[in-house]
Amino acid sequence: MHATLTHPRVNLARPQPALAPDVESFYHLPHGEHTGKACQGTACFAAKHFNPARWAEANAQNPRIYCLGECFAAPAKGQTHPRPPVKVFSREGIVLGRIAAGGARTLAAYAKFGGYGALQQALGQTPEQVLAAVEASQLRGRGGAGFPAGRKWRAVASQPAGEKYVVANADEGDAGAYIDRYLMEDDPHALIEGMILAGYAVGASKGYIYVRLEYPLAGEVLRAAIAEARAAGWLGARVGGKDFDFELEVYTGHGSYVCGEETSLLRSIEGKRPEVMARPPYPTERGLFDNPTLLNNVETLVNVPWIVTHGGAAYAEIGFSKSRGTKALSLNSLFNRPGLYEVEFGVTVRHIVEDLGGGLRGGGQLKGVLIGGPIIGIIPPHLIDTQLGFEELAAIGAGVGHGGVVAFDEHTSIPDLMEHVFSFGAYESCGKCTPCRSGSGRIEEIFTNALGGDATQADLQECRELVVALKLASLCGHGTGLARFAESILRYYPTEIEPCFK
Ligand SMILES: Cc1cc2nc3c(=O)[nH]c(=O)nc-3n(C[C@H](O)[C@H](O)[C@H](O)COP(=O)(O)O)c2cc1C
Ligand code: SF4
Repeated sequence: MHATLTHPRVNLARPQPALAPDVESFYHLPHGEHTGKACQGTACFAAKHFNPARWAEANAQNPRIYCLGECFAAPAKGQTHPRPPVKVFSREGIVLGRIAAGGARTLAAYAKFGGYGALQQALGQTPEQVLAAVEASQLRGRGGAGFPAGRKWRAVASQPAGEKYVVANADEGDAGAYIDRYLMEDDPHALIEGMILAGYAVGASKGYIYVRLEYPLAGEVLRAAIAEARAAGWLGARVGGKDFDFELEVYTGHGSYVCGEETSLLRSIEGKRPEVMARPPYPTERGLFDNPTLLNNVETLVNVPWIVTHGGAAYAEIGFSKSRGTKALSLNSLFNRPGLYEVEFGVTVRHIVEDLGGGLRGGGQLKGVLIGGPIIGIIPPHLIDTQLGFEELAAIGAGVGHGGVVAFDEHTSIPDLMEHVFSFGAYESCGKCTPCRSGSGRIEEIFTNALGGDATQADLQECRELVVALKLASLCGHGTGLARFAESILRYYPTEIEPCFK
């Protein structure tokens, strides 16, 4: 299969186009307002008692900053250069192995780990063989939904030949997650190689990496790595000397959590107001610039070179149940050992909290764990023997999500956490659905009143009804995720919630 590089929109030297006024008004940080600011994300909320002054500073800021990817040092402020050291542990070595061994920021360093060997091998095979390996691996998306990667790749490959895109979702807005940040900053070629392999398999000639504004170093490192890969013949016309062209570009976001949602992200690259769009059509059929588009999370794509090298069957042997392979996790500052950990699916949440994280800092008592951001169910202490798996966590109302692990200790008030999450939810809503646009703000208000001793049982009932509306009438996972979070709180923490309502 030969994809051509004559795409009209490809202009490698182009600066990112200016935003039209009606588009700019959608974003929270259209002019880089995050610089030097304190973070208000959920990992920082959980750690606010470590530094109340920092938290107060974050709360007073406008625009707000939700997650700087510094959750290991929460409550965090700005991006620090050089970054503070972060513990990185990987036994399987599929996703975090190179970073645990010191990182591979340059092509020379990546080559020492066998970098671009998978691509070289793939170019000697047919695209169908690469696709079959990804299908056999049973790899599922690491961006939150756990959708089978092979099925998505097959859907794009099956579209008629023509312009197709590969897009890496590097928006990583889920508070508590800094996995993709480190993958991009310390192992950028693995993502690039994964994207080229994806382009080869599905017949795409152009890729974008959508990097959030709050990760300036990631964008810088990726641009340098793309230039190196191009100079080495791994990008551009006739990749590796074969009849296949592929080009790659970094697109920087403008500060909007909802732009991590796939339809919103694609509209953002197109320069449109990035409201979420109804599906179908799915991006696999009609995505970027109305062309078939393969959109995967960064970590999903970083798995691909290993799968091509070792075979899909070898990957599928790792993991358990319907969750195969490994998952990278990022632990927040409430743990004794915050950091990045690659684990095989099937480990228990207790193993993550106690063995990897070393329990809570200062001997804190675990009140709950959020895996995968604030728009997912919380795991109460009595359920921490649940195994890490998509179906297993969903069965208790939680999820694998993005893999950011935020622990809460006895300093967290659950009604305060509800107010925090719904304040975030209302602030980041794209505004398209009423329950999300207005309902999340109303739930925030109810909990503000409850914390002030001014809420009734009727307010709690209203909150329950709004949660049902959010669950049933939200177009995207932002609204349904907020509903899942609220359901888990109302279900697992009634003794903290009920007394706040007269
Ligand atoms: C509000 C919202 C925010 C999201 N943010 C991200 C994100 O930051 N990164 C990501 O990979 N996926 C995010 N997703 C999921 C994407 O829509 C999409 O499912 C995912 O990127 C697909 O890649 P995967 O199949 O490899 O997981 C978000 C979804 C929603 C609803
Ligand atoms: S649920 Fe919220 S974020 Fe998602 S489309 Fe509706 S209004 Fe937008």
